[in-house]
Amino acid sequence: PTKAVILVGGPSRGTRFRPLSLDAPKPLFDVAGHPIIWHNLKAIEKVESVKEVILIGYYDESVFRDFLKDSAREFPQLKIQYLREYQALGTAGGLYHFRDAILKGKPERFFVLNADVCCSFPLNEMLKLFDDKDAEAVILGTRISNDAATNFGCIVSDAHTKRVLHYVEKPESHISNLINCGVYLFDTETIFSSIKSTIKRRTERPRLIAYPSSENLESSYIGGEDDDDSSKEVLRLEQDILSDLADSNRFFVHETKDFWRQIKTAGSAVPANALYLQKAFQSQSEELAKPSANVLPPVFIHPTAEVDPTAKLGPNVSIGPRAVVGPGARVKESIVLEDAEIKHDACVLYSIIGWSSKVGAWARVEGTPTPVTSHSTSIIKNGVKVQSVTILGKECSVANEVRVQNCVCLPNKELKRDVANEVIM
Ligand code: GDD
Ligand code: GTP
Repeated sequence: PTKAVILVGGPSRGTRFRPLSLDAPKPLFDVAGHPIIWHNLKAIEKVESVKEVILIGYYDESVFRDFLKDSAREFPQLKIQYLREYQALGTAGGLYHFRDAILKGKPERFFVLNADVCCSFPLNEMLKLFDDKDAEAVILGTRISNDAATNFGCIVSDAHTKRVLHYVEKPESHISNLINCGVYLFDTETIFSSIKSTIKRRTERPRLIAYPSSENLESSYIGGEDDDDSSKEVLRLEQDILSDLADSNRFFVHETKDFWRQIKTAGSAVPANALYLQKAFQSQSEELAKPSANVLPPVFIHPTAEVDPTAKLGPNVSIGPRAVVGPGARVKESIVLEDAEIKHDACVLYSIIGWSSKVGAWARVEGTPTPVTSHSTSIIKNGVKVQSVTILGKECSVANEVRVQNCVCLPNKELKRDVANEVIM
């Protein structure tokens, strides 16, 4: 058998997902009508040999309770459980800590998926490569622009054999534009013995383990409030394990030509929403709203939402449960969350309207389009870096006729005047 692990992180992470992560754990934030990790499960479901999925993170158990209940109904053939780390153990530390649970039932191999990536998850293709090459590990890779690549794990591979020759996590200078998508397939024995030898090396010569200097803070572990000892248990798959795996000759990369995005900043939920909606549209999903003069596909409208027939929606719009969209409103490239209200003739473009927020009549809430190839959600406007997507946190209100442009607005704010290029705290 094969298993799957989804690394969901915890409440100290996802800081860049603010202000949305203030009111919802990032892995459960809705894009294209479903929680982010629902999309991972949807892909895992298509791998016949996988019957069990383990979510590993350090959120409180209660966070995933309802989601697990819903998923049990929706994915009856999968056994899905959540295992909680007592503290952030790092991407490999969590796997190792819960090795008994993963090893149960003796899976020969298992998938590991980062929760915060949006892609088509070509897991069956990875499995095929794994078998064809008799691999120890397969990583999913994608090509991105040279200047964006150093924000990710970079892979140097042999184009012909697909072997991974080098792996460097967030290198300081360019080494490759083939990057780590955060999706792996591991031979069970190999990965645990590799983690074990890393731990052994570390305990024997603790002072000799130098971490790459962390100018790039995102790649470094930032310990919790507690003691320094805790960091000893932190093991990072990327820095501590993958580079070593590349030395074996049985580490391969499957390069996907399909879409891939990271979901880090709150604004990145907008392109992720668009990509998953487009995917649903291509597969003729019944869930999507029927195209019409006022519905430019793809559009998702929750069955409990109330959308006036004269409102024009799409493309790439999701309307959440009980949200209300009034007559003559225009919504494009946006996410409107639960219980939000868009009054008549308001315009919402490239934005996220938070839970229970209100957008007044004739108001304009807008962001700026970014190229599909861009992996960043900030843009330079008048020489200043601003968010390309406008975000209203929970329970915000925008008065009638007010214009909000490229702003991030923390929860419970009232916007009564026009604002642009600001973070409203
Ligand atoms: N359970 C658990 N415990 N999960 C964790 C922990 C932890 O201590 N730390 C991170 N995660 C989860 C995050 O929620 C996320 O899903 C995933 O592991 C990776 O998060 P980061 O460690 O923040 O890495 P990153 O997202 O900056 O970069 C990784 O993903 C990129 C692709 O999106 C790396 O794997 C890069 O190489 C890769 O390109
Ligand atoms: P994920 O998206 O889940 O990976 O979280 P994230 O990368 O958005 O948040 P993370 O907790 O990694 O923090 C993002 C950035 O915030 C880090 O790169 C740090 O610059 C900063 N940061 C977070 N926590 C701390 C902390 O405890 N101390 C300091 N100095 N900076 C922190």
